[in-house]
Amino acid sequence: MNNHIKDLEATINKLAAKGKGILAADESIGTITKRFEALSIPSTEDTRRDYREMLVATPGLNEYVAGVILFEETLNQKTKSGQPFPEFLKQQGILPGIKVDKGLVNIPYTQDEQTTQGLDGLCERLADYKAKGACFAKWRAVYAISANTPSALAIRANAEGLASYAAACQANGIVPIVEPEILLDGEHTIERCAEVTENVLHAVFHSLFKHKVKLEYIILKPSMVISGKKCASKATAEQVAKASVTALRRTVPAAVPTINFLSGGQSPEEATANLNGMNMMAGNPWNLSFSYARALQDYSMKTWKGDAKNLAAAQKIFLARAKLNSLASVGKYTTAMEKETSIA
Ligand code: 13P
Repeated sequence: MNNHIKDLEATINKLAAKGKGILAADESIGTITKRFEALSIPSTEDTRRDYREMLVATPGLNEYVAGVILFEETLNQKTKSGQPFPEFLKQQGILPGIKVDKGLVNIPYTQDEQTTQGLDGLCERLADYKAKGACFAKWRAVYAISANTPSALAIRANAEGLASYAAACQANGIVPIVEPEILLDGEHTIERCAEVTENVLHAVFHSLFKHKVKLEYIILKPSMVISGKKCASKATAEQVAKASVTALRRTVPAAVPTINFLSGGQSPEEATANLNGMNMMAGNPWNLSFSYARALQDYSMKTWKGDAKNLAAAQKIFLARAKLNSLASVGKYTTAMEKETSIA
């Protein structure tokens, strides 16, 4: 462990830099294929490479983005000019990360609740990813809210998975992103989401403690406390900010340097406004930033459409979105700024 402290420190210092966030570009082949198909973009090794190269080669991205989470396929790919992606990113002053979980499986005897697989052989894979340049990693656990879920069993199983993974990362000199995602789907109220978030985070930090994970070298990637997609009353940005910060203050130790939210199906504008709301509240002990996939990429992917002639326009819209989220991470975003970046 001690041998790796220097690496962990250097990585976390870069990733927790004020005004910067993380781009999640680690969609599995199935997920990115679905997103491409919705826009009639063919999904092949080459189109996925071209799309991700378009994103990470955006001039000026390093002003707003400190790290990019890659899928294994991209970690092993080369840019058009023949440079491995991790090397290309480092040259831009951006750290490469890697999604290391192997997706979700059902937990038997639950109401279709899920846990995350990928612990077998993880240490060997981490050593290999590190040799290829990865400095940080991601593991996602999911929790669905219904009348009877998440169950105590799902909460415990996922907390243990996240903590085992995080300990393995740190032992290999890799900063773990710990991602417990409470899904937006459903009719639940913001109050119910707050209750579930507290339960989940409490269990996650208990397991992290038991597994001797050094909280100074993790990134927490939670969902925001928000009303369900089908809830009759939609919480405002101010309510989301207040409820999220309240739940986090009750459960997340101040030793955690940075909390980088996922967007989880919120619109790009919502995800930015909600983050900004949190950063307008004084007295938070952690950096509060973003690690979005959809909320950063959606407009850019729609503009790109798989056609090289749209590359510059897609990069422009992507950079604008990254900048708005950077401003939100320091509480300096206003909705009026959206007009300048609208692609409608
Ligand atoms: P979204 O921002 O689209 O929720 O994705 C973040 C992520 O990395 C999910 O694991």
